[in-house]
Amino acid sequence: MLIGIGIDQLRVGMYVHSVDLAWFRHPFWRNRFLLETHEDLERLRDAGAQSVVIDTAKGLDVPVSGIAHERQESEARRPAVGNARKRRNSAPPADDFSNPYAAGRETPKRLTGRARRTEIRRATKTLNRSKTAVMTMFADARMGKAIKTKGISKLVEQISASVSEDASIILNIARLKTKDEYTFLHSVSVCALMINLARKLGLDPQTVKAMGMAGMLHDVGKIAIPEEILNKPTRLSDEEWTVVRNHPRRGFEILSASGLVDPLALDVCLNHHEKMDGTGYPNRTNGEFLSLAARMAAICDVYDAITSQRVYNTPLTADEALEKMQSWKGHFDQLLMKAFIESLGIWPVGSLVVLSDGTLAIVIGESPGDFTQPIVRQFHAIRSHSSLPWRDICISHDGSSPTIRSQADPADFDLPDWPLLSARLLGSDRIAA
Ligand SMILES: [Fe+2]
Ligand SMILES: [Fe+2]
Repeated sequence: MLIGIGIDQLRVGMYVHSVDLAWFRHPFWRNRFLLETHEDLERLRDAGAQSVVIDTAKGLDVPVSGIAHERQESEARRPAVGNARKRRNSAPPADDFSNPYAAGRETPKRLTGRARRTEIRRATKTLNRSKTAVMTMFADARMGKAIKTKGISKLVEQISASVSEDASIILNIARLKTKDEYTFLHSVSVCALMINLARKLGLDPQTVKAMGMAGMLHDVGKIAIPEEILNKPTRLSDEEWTVVRNHPRRGFEILSASGLVDPLALDVCLNHHEKMDGTGYPNRTNGEFLSLAARMAAICDVYDAITSQRVYNTPLTADEALEKMQSWKGHFDQLLMKAFIESLGIWPVGSLVVLSDGTLAIVIGESPGDFTQPIVRQFHAIRSHSSLPWRDICISHDGSSPTIRSQADPADFDLPDWPLLSARLLGSDRIAA
């Protein structure tokens, strides 16, 4: 059983299921672990953890009086009807412990007008330079030369600058690659996606850059895959699959031999095709043993692959890709997946969102031609906790409409019978005045 307890109740011998710190801030390399020493307990306290969720099936339980106390506290913390703000200011309720990625949420920045056009030119130049650099890197690796990371490091900084200006611009351009460009621009795309997600998670600038670098280098092992297999439009044979599945190991060897010792890049290179349920490759490593970087890379890698034009598939739209990825149980870290969706500023149909004018709306579609402009159905005023006539709004970034502040949890707003209400909102094409 999972129980939320205060840090003062935590004892050696308990199995920590999650901590109220984003896990990259807590001092252990795994997000779930058996607390074995008093030193480890102190390290968690020192890192600022206030509360944890323990799994009593895997470790010690809380003394009975402790559980009763915690449950009473938890009851007391239940939010007043419709008063989400009050809840945010109080101690987090137990169900919030389950999302270690709650930190660092901010609305993605969007440029308009001249600033946008300038950024499009800059991002295009950066992407072209990066593509050439990746081609050179792959060619060097193929010839057994050492990989020069200095130039790539500069490009990662430029990509990072573009991502912080308006991530949707560079990500949109990087997505529009031809089949021939795929192998090289895919590395650049994954670099930009990793940076964008790392920033969303609130990682420090050095780690953000390391994540970008890891994205750029993650597929270097593909040089060991013959072209005819890499670009084969039909189903791969078992032998061909074996070759493909070896590219993470091969990449790890190439980077290691190059004297590249950044453990984060090596880790991403080796583990970006592993899955949370342990069915990935090359080592079938379980999610509990996968680092944050590897779990991030798994998401960024697949997202770019299925939204890009490749020899053997037609690209999915962003929304279709995210919906598909969320349906693959056991593949990705689902909490990280949510952070990824937010980092893109793409709102899947059915998402409950808070608008900048203090209302709630549900996403009902995306505007044709720009996946970052969802169409929402506004239906609820937050402050007065009252229903509004439904109104459909195309969210734009030019000031002509409210913008989306954040994705929301229906439980935070005490919406009566949300499953039924959301079905009605999604099912109706009524546009009220
Ligand atoms: Fe790969
Ligand atoms: Fe990849």
